[in-house]
Amino acid sequence: MTSLKNLYIKKLLYGGYGFAQLEGKSLMVDYALPGELVEAEVYREKKDYSLAKATNILLPSSSRREAPCPYYGACGGCQLQHMEYGAQLKAKEEMLLETLERIGKLEVRNLESPLQGNEFGYRIKAQFKVFGGRLGFFERRSHKLVDVEECLLLHPSLNRLIPSLRELAKGIKNLREVHVLYSPHEGEFLLKLFCDEDIRKEKLRKLIERLLPEKVVGVGFYREGKVYSLGRNFTFLSISPYKYRVSMDSFLQVNYLLWERFIECAVPEGKYERTLELHCGIGFFSLFLARTSGFLTAYDNNRPALRDAEYNARINAVGNVSFECRISSEALKKHAGEVIDLLFLDPPRSGLSGGEASLILKNKPKVVVYVSCEPTTLARDLKVLVKGGYKLVSLRLVDNFPNTYHIETIAQLRLE
Ligand SMILES: C[S@@+](CC[C@H](N)C(=O)[O-])C[C@H]1O[C@@H](n2cnc3c(N)ncnc32)[C@H](O)[C@@H]1O
Repeated sequence: MTSLKNLYIKKLLYGGYGFAQLEGKSLMVDYALPGELVEAEVYREKKDYSLAKATNILLPSSSRREAPCPYYGACGGCQLQHMEYGAQLKAKEEMLLETLERIGKLEVRNLESPLQGNEFGYRIKAQFKVFGGRLGFFERRSHKLVDVEECLLLHPSLNRLIPSLRELAKGIKNLREVHVLYSPHEGEFLLKLFCDEDIRKEKLRKLIERLLPEKVVGVGFYREGKVYSLGRNFTFLSISPYKYRVSMDSFLQVNYLLWERFIECAVPEGKYERTLELHCGIGFFSLFLARTSGFLTAYDNNRPALRDAEYNARINAVGNVSFECRISSEALKKHAGEVIDLLFLDPPRSGLSGGEASLILKNKPKVVVYVSCEPTTLARDLKVLVKGGYKLVSLRLVDNFPNTYHIETIAQLRLE
């Protein structure tokens, strides 16, 4: 391993790396902060840059802190715990603006104040890795397991379940992953077990009864895909004034502490006669979008989520909405030529798929809200929309993932 001395860290890059340059070569340094002088060890050489890890901080930044989590540095789940939380928010905003400028050629003048909540205890979903009966998370960029007794990002109830999950991991041969969803309103859990080998239903039922608390109300067993489930497939949540059903195979926003304010910031002010929503999931935003819409048509390509969305509209007596299972490009084609007042998008990290941004330009909705969990694809897609006649009227960082490098954004555009 090459050791480097006196590396000056210029800025933070998306991914949580400190950026430095040495003899014309770029370096991405783990656990280093802007303005710091560090010693580092290179652990991977690439053609255009090297990856390194800070080993000694010679001149620390005033934003540096002792990471609160004892696993930090070993566990790969967090990348920014060594930075004061306020500085994390500022750095994320800078990374967002830099990405929009570099990839999207966009200069942003209207950044709203960031939406923030607690920096710990916010996650109601976890994906534990299992290896040889041990349970934890992977090291950064590796498949080496770090045993974890507690994760500071998780809701305390999820942490209290870990000892039982560890016993389950010991009891199931070739278990690879355990995904957990916790409903803070019902106080109950759904589990998804990913295994390389089948386990008979009856055997799993007995193990669950013996090892897991009653609050685990449903367990899904997956091999390539879903093989079977035991108990309930779903639980319920509340986002005032609505109640939501969420199934174990539906997407759910992880940061429950921000749910209400996230929706409030994302649903645009004003009344919209015709609203189209793509990527609606369980109807997380839909029920609120329906309030300010004459009629809402919402799409998602995941059938379990779509069924949840339909159910959720029904139990909450929201009648001016219809849901359909369709991929977003097909939905856009279906509505081509119609007058659309508001288009609401919340795609996965890959952003809009090929051609969707151009289809939007043909549909010409008056207002577009784009909720994104990946700034690089957001920048790529906004570039097309802005070139096609939209103006970026507001941008807001939503810190759904404190202490990690992940960035959630709400962008609002209007037809010029
Ligand atoms: C980030 S989630 C957002 C879901 C929902 N808006 C929420 O906040 O809970 C993205 C959603 O897009 C859906 N999705 C992914 N690719 C899609 C596609 N090509 N067409 C339609 N929906 C898609 C997924 O099933 C998922 O529900």
